[in-house]
Amino acid sequence: MKREEKEVLYNFLDTARCWAEGFGLPKPAPVTFVDDTTVPPIITTADTLEIISEEIAACGRCGLAATRNFAVPGEGANNPLVLIIGEGPGAEEDNTGHAFIGEAGKLLDKMLAAIDLSRKTNTHILNIVKCRPPGNRDPNPDEISLCLPYLHRQIDLLNPVAILTLGRVALTSLVNTSDGIGKVHGQFFEYRGYPLMPTYHPSALLRNEEYKRPAWEDLKKLRAWINSTVPPNDPRLGTL
Ligand code: URA
Repeated sequence: MKREEKEVLYNFLDTARCWAEGFGLPKPAPVTFVDDTTVPPIITTADTLEIISEEIAACGRCGLAATRNFAVPGEGANNPLVLIIGEGPGAEEDNTGHAFIGEAGKLLDKMLAAIDLSRKTNTHILNIVKCRPPGNRDPNPDEISLCLPYLHRQIDLLNPVAILTLGRVALTSLVNTSDGIGKVHGQFFEYRGYPLMPTYHPSALLRNEEYKRPAWEDLKKLRAWINSTVPPNDPRLGTL
């Protein structure tokens, strides 16, 4: 607020006070105002995906840091149509620092391509934990809660149209449900204000062919929902 505006406001309030309390009261000493428009703003460092990735690469918050080769921050398009969230890096990801590059990742890429999604143009891929749990065990609750703040910052910066979680660990880390994937896959939940759909993890599809059909139905449903939600001229809808 400018100094002149503050003075007008102050004088008005002072007159109102006099009306309320009587004009016989002694007048307070004059007050000097500062012009806010001349005061430099406090600069706060903006969060970025690059800053988060650097923090993840140097992270030692939990025991997984001791056994990892590379942390895997995640990758893909900014402001994606779909943010995919897996469980945690496997062996190939741990050896390279890149998300979903093993057999499960190849299957995932094929399924995404079938609904015009790709990590190059309109999809981003992250994990619940950024470092590989030894022997591909499930991440434990402490590891998950110590890692989740990175995911929250990433989600808020990416601002996706929808989130697709892969498998039980990703779902139950984000949504309070005791139902298994077999029951809730393809349904919409909400997380941090974003629509979230759980589906099967591609590793489960590799182990059990029976899951392929319901997972494919989930992806088609997600794509239909996106098409009905995003304006038709949005370039992210385009072919790959
Ligand atoms: N499985 C996951 O959940 N994430 C990866 O990055 C790779 C395999």
